[in-house]
Amino acid sequence: MSFEQLHRETAAKLDDAVDKICSQLVVEKEQLKTMTEGFIEAMENGLNHPNSSEVNSSTTPSPNSAGLSMLPSFVTGLPNGTERGILLACELGTMHFRICSVELLGDHTFQLRHVKSHLPQEVIEEDTASSDKLFSFMARRTYAFIKRAHPEVLDPHAGVSMKMGFTFTYPVEQTSLNEGILIRWTKNVQIKDTVGRDVVQLFQDQLDSQGLERIRIVALTNDTVGTFLSLCYSSGSSMSSLATGEVVEPVIGCIIGTGTNGCYMESTENIGKLQPELRERLIREGKTKMCVNTEWGSFDNELKYIPTTKYDTLIDQKFSSNPGFHLFEKRISALYLGEILRNILLDLYQQGLILTQYRTERSLPHRLKTPFELGCQVLAHIEIDDSTNLRETELTLLQSLRLPTTPQERYAIQKIVRAISRRSAYLAAVPIAAILMKTGALTKRYHGEVEVGCDGSIAEYYPGYRSMLRHALALSPIGTEGERKVHLRIAKDGSGVGSALCALVA
Ligand code: BGC
Repeated sequence: MSFEQLHRETAAKLDDAVDKICSQLVVEKEQLKTMTEGFIEAMENGLNHPNSSEVNSSTTPSPNSAGLSMLPSFVTGLPNGTERGILLACELGTMHFRICSVELLGDHTFQLRHVKSHLPQEVIEEDTASSDKLFSFMARRTYAFIKRAHPEVLDPHAGVSMKMGFTFTYPVEQTSLNEGILIRWTKNVQIKDTVGRDVVQLFQDQLDSQGLERIRIVALTNDTVGTFLSLCYSSGSSMSSLATGEVVEPVIGCIIGTGTNGCYMESTENIGKLQPELRERLIREGKTKMCVNTEWGSFDNELKYIPTTKYDTLIDQKFSSNPGFHLFEKRISALYLGEILRNILLDLYQQGLILTQYRTERSLPHRLKTPFELGCQVLAHIEIDDSTNLRETELTLLQSLRLPTTPQERYAIQKIVRAISRRSAYLAAVPIAAILMKTGALTKRYHGEVEVGCDGSIAEYYPGYRSMLRHALALSPIGTEGERKVHLRIAKDGSGVGSALCALVA
């Protein structure tokens, strides 16, 4: 066989293999329907089942077959934009800690000063990480910030104290607004001695030992809850405007970034997992609604509904730090999209269909061989490349992975990237459609429209993502009519403002 024939044959095989992979990533209309129904059922199960089994299963995890976590947040009221005050807020994200001073101006706006610090390796790396190291790092960063932004708090004679809201971006079981036991780490963070402990207490102890006793953590919020509250603050929790003729109600707060998750207001009486006396007391006090953190990243850990390729299984079992958990998140969020692409490329390489200039797997570029080294921003660049021969993609792959490619390989990679991101957006539409249906939000008012507040790198920056998500919403059981009533709003940095709001009312 001549070289040309061989080349043509390999090219045709590559096309076939890529088409096969992409077809496995397609989410059909029918699947959207079954997943949405399954999601509603999982919400109902989760509202009525305690999470204690999950807490205990932290060392030997077994997926929660009862459904979603559906964690009560103890947030029972929503801001309307008139709130005023100066508060502290902080957020522990996957790679960062952020401390903010928030001034709520009472007119739907706020002023925010903040310092964001990267978490040092020894604080998060599995071998060296510990709760003490993490929370004392956070307390030291807080001290440095307070010294500049609010020195009066450090003066023992001034008698000034400040309330702080703490945004925590991992699942915790709350027993009140300022108490939360870590159920498990997600997003590849692994600090074993934090699971099963109260993260507010751990942080407050470290603040106290830094001499920051006058800062009191009064509220703990998941990032989705913070995003939702900040959306309510900036648009008004139930906005109805005669001037614009619009009636818009904030219904969901969600994150589509490194991880993914969402929250919404549920009737207190439907939250069967709350102790009956507590539930009755809340209802008596007029707290008839509570924000529930669904922890939707863990939807369908039993794999009854969500599409699964061999790459998803490999990533979950071999490379992720929480195998068997957060399987939905592992098909949607930024941490995993690049990893899916990396595993597909390795598979095609092993079949001799791509990157054939590398004779052995060992000689492949380091970043292609290393789990989680292919970042989602690489996919974002490739997604929108329309340059001749995909020159932009060539540069991106060279810069980020040191990977030279042929035009044919690049077209194949782009096709895969688009299939991965589309699957992510279609799956992300499922919980949104399900919550809108379960709450009846789309039919509550005459011509009522709804707002979904989103934060996170994918929701905000991934090209075309929100329009793919809308497309999937239109195909979902809410249909085109429902989709038209949905406003997706970016609630940038929402969680900081949200936890300050929470601290204000605590
Ligand atoms: C966590 C959620 C969080 C989401 C977005 C997930 O991995 O379990 O608690 O809201 O990431 O940050």
